[in-house]
Amino acid sequence: MHYLEPLFNPESVAIVGASHHEGKIGHTVVKNIVESGYKGRIYPVNPKGGEILGLKVYKNIFEIEEKVDVAIIVVPAKVAENIIEDVAKKARYIIVITSGFSEVGNIEGEKKIVEAARKHGARVLGPNVFGIYSAKPPINATFGPSKIKAGNVAVVSQSGALGIAMIGKAAEENMGLSAIVSIGNKADLTEVEILSYLFQDDSTRVVFLYIEGLENGREFLDIIRKRPPNKSIIVLKAGRSKAGARAVASHTGSLAGSDAVFDAAFRQVGILRADGLEDGLNWVTTIALSPPPKGKNVVIVTNGGGLGVIAADACEKYGLHLFDDMEVLRKTFQDVMPEFGSYKNPVDITGQAGGKEYKAALERAFKEPNIHAILALYCDRGDAELEDIKNAFIEVHKKYGDKPALYTIFGGEGATSIITALKREGIPAFSDVEDAVSSLYALYKVNERKDEGELEEIEMDEERIRKIIERAIKEGRRKLLAHEAKAILQAAGVDVPPFYLVRNIEEAVEAANKIGYPVVMKVVSEDIIHKTDVGGVVLNIENEKEAAEAYEAIIENCKRNVPKARIVGIEVTKMLPKGVETIIGATTDASFGKVVMFGLGGIYVEVMKDVTFRVAPVAKKEIRRMVREIESYPILAGVRGEKSKDIEAIIDTIYRIGMLVTKFEEILELDINPLIVYEKGAKVADARMSIKVGK
Ligand code: ACO
Repeated sequence: MHYLEPLFNPESVAIVGASHHEGKIGHTVVKNIVESGYKGRIYPVNPKGGEILGLKVYKNIFEIEEKVDVAIIVVPAKVAENIIEDVAKKARYIIVITSGFSEVGNIEGEKKIVEAARKHGARVLGPNVFGIYSAKPPINATFGPSKIKAGNVAVVSQSGALGIAMIGKAAEENMGLSAIVSIGNKADLTEVEILSYLFQDDSTRVVFLYIEGLENGREFLDIIRKRPPNKSIIVLKAGRSKAGARAVASHTGSLAGSDAVFDAAFRQVGILRADGLEDGLNWVTTIALSPPPKGKNVVIVTNGGGLGVIAADACEKYGLHLFDDMEVLRKTFQDVMPEFGSYKNPVDITGQAGGKEYKAALERAFKEPNIHAILALYCDRGDAELEDIKNAFIEVHKKYGDKPALYTIFGGEGATSIITALKREGIPAFSDVEDAVSSLYALYKVNERKDEGELEEIEMDEERIRKIIERAIKEGRRKLLAHEAKAILQAAGVDVPPFYLVRNIEEAVEAANKIGYPVVMKVVSEDIIHKTDVGGVVLNIENEKEAAEAYEAIIENCKRNVPKARIVGIEVTKMLPKGVETIIGATTDASFGKVVMFGLGGIYVEVMKDVTFRVAPVAKKEIRRMVREIESYPILAGVRGEKSKDIEAIIDTIYRIGMLVTKFEEILELDINPLIVYEKGAKVADARMSIKVGK
């Protein structure tokens, strides 16, 4: 038995702050519990005693003779803080409906609630929640609408108001709920534990989760990864806007707006993310009401060519496969349509089609095993056919419920009335064909399972890396010097061309000779960020004479332009030939910890923003998808007869970076920009790294 079973299927509940006054939250909760047909023991608690809705009221929680499974707190915040210890002694789970905690800055009060509960082995849902509904007992311990239809959709919402609105919306869509849980401030129980319960709950088939943020992103991804194959999840994550101003020292850090990372993390584990409430609701209703498709072949049946074309375009946009076996299409539809109709998908049964014709065509579509999903479209002609159409849709759908079929009725009031009638029958129906297609896409997508691949061990010179990091920490340097960053990358097995740190002309010439011309020289100084601007970089050095001149010029330029800068030395390295400039980076995300980034690099990286992320470490299989995700991928794959660049080398570099930042938690951010990619190999041209110094 899951440890949260008593929360979702309690044998007894106490309502602390049960009110005698109708309309008050403490009254509504008792009323909803009673009216939901809850068969367990109900204990209203209120110092005034008496009766509420015929139930004996207990003057305090200690009058109750048993330890209750769930206590619901509906007294003001200050009172709640005072009584929490007593409640915790008498309840296994405490639902704190009360507002006025961390959401308004009362962090201490919230801490007190959780600490008191934990001290006595109780767990807290909330505070700042609307309660919980669970179909199993059944129990409606919320102050939302009283009537909730039981079904297979679980709603988990961080926002209370939205959760309550969802109850109403579910009723309108005729969508049954297995549970509805408000997680509010998530002071103790979070979405992770709630999901772990719902994913093992027999009555839940699909979870609709609304969140605004995640504190424990990795645990969340793990629970999603481990969910059983018959459980689906749709996430609506609010806050697509960029992360607020953060002090970041790298391109990766500034490109990793929190939402970009969320998006990528969801993609990594195969979470279907809804763009808005409307999409989310359409999707969840369709998934709850439809069997999973058995294959990819979609057929559109329409009475209007225009609507059919719009649907076909939308299918292409969402990557749905329009069935195109002309022979099967002809056999299936030819004799149930007028001569001037078209059995080519979209199947156009023409404007004169009425209920009889739709019934015949849809029956054929349902019966043909090569067709796996149906989009039925109807353009309202404003005549009496409407009633027949409605009956045809309902009759056929009910008779052959073994494949997904989604209905779009486009038109005026009459169309709306058919949609309502279909919804009442539990049939997915839409007024906009794009919504129908996006819902069918969601149905396909939600059943896909992601295989991220396996991590493999790699060799790294860990001792060398640790030494560099430890020295910087000891010296209190957050930013590593360029040659240190490169040395770490080299020790991690990344292809860094030979480089030397030199401190005089002789060393500079000797290093250049060893490397082989042409070489590059760059000043190494913690105090100089924009090296080129101050004359701290010389490219394309061809011989000894130029090497000596370059050394002198750099020292002179830097002394003149940034007189206060402490110059550690000059880095001499190979001048790399031209290739495709990419960026590989890593940063530390507040929700997910270490993440890696890949994108098109060079000086325009922050303008183009053609980058993508993954939570580290990432297996190569997933990195391959990541690399293909950027818009400029064709440049790497080879355009106009060009040979493909060495994508395996990119994958290997990203893999090593993921492993490096996972093994060395101290590395907060790093950029390899650019990593120059060739037909064979990929080389680090420049790198930055910052580490955690102090707490
Ligand atoms: N033990 C038990 N009952 C007590 C105690 C006690 N120690 N002390 C007082 N009570 C009783 C009161 O006498 C009262 O009962 P009565 O109406 O019969 O007299 C009852 O508890 C409630 O106390 P009130 O002081 O009347 O509190 P009120 O009902 O005004 O407010 C509430 C309590 C609803 C918890 C309020 O503080 C609150 O937080 N409201 C917001 C709730 C909310 O929105 N939560 C988030 C949901 S999500 C969303 O955004 C929709």
